[in-house]
Amino acid sequence: MIGLSSNIKNSPQAATYKNSTTPFPQTPTPSLGACTNVNCHFEKETPVWGSAGLTLETGCGTCHDTPPADGNHPTASGPGKKHGDYYGAGSGSCGICHVSHFADANPFSHATSVGRNLILSFNGAPNSGGDYGKPQNLSYPNYLPSRTRAEDRNGSCSNLYCHSDGRRELPKLHRHGGPHSPHPAIPATTAPAIPRTSAAGMESIPGVPAMPIAVSVVIRRRQAAAIPLPTKPAM
Ligand code: HEC
Ligand code: HEC
Repeated sequence: MIGLSSNIKNSPQAATYKNSTTPFPQTPTPSLGACTNVNCHFEKETPVWGSAGLTLETGCGTCHDTPPADGNHPTASGPGKKHGDYYGAGSGSCGICHVSHFADANPFSHATSVGRNLILSFNGAPNSGGDYGKPQNLSYPNYLPSRTRAEDRNGSCSNLYCHSDGRRELPKLHRHGGPHSPHPAIPATTAPAIPRTSAAGMESIPGVPAMPIAVSVVIRRRQAAAIPLPTKPAM
C-alpha cells in the first residue's frame, strides 16, 4: 500500500493525491496523478507525478503566479501597471521588492525552504531599503492563499526612494493594492531619476501640462498633500 503523509512539510492543509487521502495498492502500471494543498507548491495543484522537470522561465509560474495577480504586483494593466511599465512583469522584476530567485544557482530550490517568512526587501536600485506596513502577513503560513485573503494581505509601503519626490524627503505612503498617486516617470536604470533643472520629467503627470520647473513642483506638492490651489482673490 502507498499512503501519503497528510500534512507534507507541516502544510496547514491536508494534502491529497488524486483527490484522495486514502492509501492505495502499489501496481506495476500506475495511473499517475497530482497532489493538492502542499505548502511548497503554494497550495496549487502540482504537476502530475512523473511529468518532465520544470525549466526556466515558464516553470516559475507552476506554484505561485509570476508575478502573483494580487496587490500592486507588476502587470500590463490594472493597479500594478506602473510597476509593470518600469520593471516589466517577468521573473526579473521580482528582485525590486523580493530576493530574485531567478538568479539563484538552483532557481527552484527556494520552494523547499517553505516554513520561513516571505522575504520582502526593497534593495533593487534605486531603492535602498523601505518598510511594509503588514509584517504579520509575511510570516509563515499567513502568506499562503488558504490563510489570508489577498485583499487582507495588502499593506502600505513607506520610505521607498521610488515613491519619494526624488529628493530623499517627503516619502509617500503607498498602499499595495490601493490606487496610484500621480508621479513622474522614473527611469529604472538611473538614480536620481527626476531632472530638476528642466520641465522634462514633469510632462507625464496626468492633467499637468509642461511648465517651468518651480511652478510644476509646487503643483506636485499640492497634489501630493491634496491641498486645493488658492483661488485668485476678488479685485
Ligand atoms: C512592487 C513590489 C513587488 C514586486 C515587483 C513583486 N512583489 Fe511579490 N509581493 C510584494 C508584496 C508587498 C507582497 C506582500 C503582500 C502580499 O502577500 O500580497 C508580495 C507577496 C508575494 C507572494 C506571496 C503570495 C501573494 O500572492 O501575495 C509571492 C509568491 C510573490 N510576492 C512573488 C513575486 C514574484 C514571483 C515576483 C516577480 C515576478 C514578485 N513577487 C514581484 C511586492 C512585490
Ligand atoms: C515548486 C514550487 C515553486 C516554484 C516552481 C517556484 N517557486 Fe517561488 N516560491 C515558492 C514558495 C513555497 C515560496 C515561499 C517562500 C519559501 O518559503 O520558500 C516562494 C516564494 C517566492 C518569492 C518571494 C520571495 C521569497 O523567497 O520569500 C519569489 C520572488 C519567487 N518565489 C520567485 C520565483 C521564481 C523567479 C521562480 C522560477 C525560477 C519560482 N519562484 C518558482 C514556490 C515555488
